[in-house]
Amino acid sequence: MTRINKFEMRLSALSENESFARSCVAAFCLPLDPSIDEINDVKTAVSEAVTNCIVHAYNGAPDKYIDMSVTAEEGGRLTVTISDSGCGIEDVEQALQPFYTTKSDEERSGMGFTIMKTFMDELLVTSQKGRGTQVSMTKYIRGARNVDSRTDSSTD
Ligand SMILES: Nc1ncnc2c1ncn2[C@@H]1O[C@H](COP(=O)(O)OP(=O)(O)O)[C@@H](O)[C@H]1O
Ligand SMILES: [Mg+2]
Repeated sequence: MTRINKFEMRLSALSENESFARSCVAAFCLPLDPSIDEINDVKTAVSEAVTNCIVHAYNGAPDKYIDMSVTAEEGGRLTVTISDSGCGIEDVEQALQPFYTTKSDEERSGMGFTIMKTFMDELLVTSQKGRGTQVSMTKYIRGARNVDSRTDSSTD
């Protein structure tokens, strides 16, 4: 049976917790031996998802929470699920389009979901208007060691 390691955390929806959340995920996935690029991809995707909760779901309201659940499976499958109980998304398909933003006035680029999609291998967004949003992202960590050993053998 595949060995799965898991952690869950609940964070106040405050901007200072964005870097805390991404550092936690980065530290947790270290046993999968990720490359620096893989760690940076995961950190960027987590930042985008957490920022969306703070900025969009709760619109900066205090005393709100973000739930994060992370699993690391033997073999390198890393899944990060970030949930809020905020305003929800009316049309998820539309929200996933590059450059789509409901906050263009605040200089949002509308590229958050596109970045998550690009930097991770799988992205699943489910949302209910008025109830909240769940973003689940998976990355298959190939690992620094795998990359190195492949490079080594190709030079043999
Ligand atoms: N957690 C969320 N709760 C409510 N709406 C969201 C959430 N995440 C994203 N959205 C909606 O999807 C749109 C696109 O998000 P994103 O691609 O990250 O671009 P941006 O954050 O720059 O607007 C946002 O403008 C917002 O309308
Ligand atoms: Mg965003």
